[in-house]
Amino acid sequence: MSKKPQVMILGTGRAVPEKILTNADLEQIVDTSDEWIVARTGIRQRHVAEPGSALSDLVTEAARNALQNAGVTADEVDLIILGTVSGDMQFPATACIVQEKLGAKNAVAFDLSAACSGFLYGLQVAEGMMVASGYRRVLVIGGEVLTSMVNWQDRDTCVLFGDGAGAVLLGPSTDGRGLLQTFLGSNGAHSNLLYNAGGGCLNPPSAANLAAQVYAIRMEGKEVFRHAVSSMVGALTKVLERAGLTEKDLDLLIPHQANLRIIEAVTKRFKVPMEKVYVNVDRYGNTSSASIPIALDELRRDAGLKDGALVGMVTFGAGFTWAAALLRV
Ligand code: UT7
Repeated sequence: MSKKPQVMILGTGRAVPEKILTNADLEQIVDTSDEWIVARTGIRQRHVAEPGSALSDLVTEAARNALQNAGVTADEVDLIILGTVSGDMQFPATACIVQEKLGAKNAVAFDLSAACSGFLYGLQVAEGMMVASGYRRVLVIGGEVLTSMVNWQDRDTCVLFGDGAGAVLLGPSTDGRGLLQTFLGSNGAHSNLLYNAGGGCLNPPSAANLAAQVYAIRMEGKEVFRHAVSSMVGALTKVLERAGLTEKDLDLLIPHQANLRIIEAVTKRFKVPMEKVYVNVDRYGNTSSASIPIALDELRRDAGLKDGALVGMVTFGAGFTWAAALLRV
């Protein structure tokens, strides 16, 4: 069922920490090589926050850039949804801290936990709240400081992640452009394949938990890879079917930037030529919920994304969660 877009993007923004960690730097920390990392993941470098820095600072900068891009002031914002699994603190929601830092005093603010799918989950939640409850200026943000929860001795995971934030400002669609379709999926049967077991009630802080690296990201990479490809292909198929379109109609595909091989496998199975696929995993690594909005902002500001283009977005992450969206920019 094709539908008229109800919400559209008014502005985008991004922010990443200054510090860059290259594969050569990682060779000094753990038993790995630039050759292995590039061949298995496509990653060449990642931006990393200094230990103890606040996610809310990165997110606030990305949100400010999106507001400026849209010509909207912070006090006009009425809703802030932040997709993250690496907020400043266990509570309160980092979105509330961002509300204060931005000066968005008229906004409702909350975090949304869907790992790498946090941004696309946020888009659908925002659309629903805008249509049902009349919110009109909505920040949807993906932001992570995942390097704060990496075990730097675990080469299976520590080479993969980077930090950053990307934001979009949504408003009601006025000219037929905007969000055409979204699809969300979840399967908790695989919650044990990608997780951080610390920070919750199961594993309260203790010296033993700290020593056992309970607070670090754990992942069964091969299994995650397999599920990621099939779920992303399925989600893209769903949004196109629902919109009455095919992959040939896509002007551009923005896949979650976890691994170049996953991106290539999805595009091959989906029969989208790589020229139409945006890739920046080489520069950022896997920034989880931030990867798609960072890419969107790069495309709008720096890569000449044309008004009216049909953009597909698709992601997969811990939970498992996965999602796709179709956007007429
Ligand atoms: O963002 C959401 C979800 N996350 C993902 O989508 C990530 C999904 N998974 C992946 O991207 C890939 O599975 C990885 C990049 C994590 C791993 O690639 P792989 O091709 O699945 O490699 P592997 O885990 O099967 O490891 C192959 C070999 C192993 O050695 P042996 O057992 O064959 O001797 C690993 O110990 O590579 C070794 N290895 C490394 N070697 C050098 C693993 N990590 C490293 C490393 N440097 N950093």
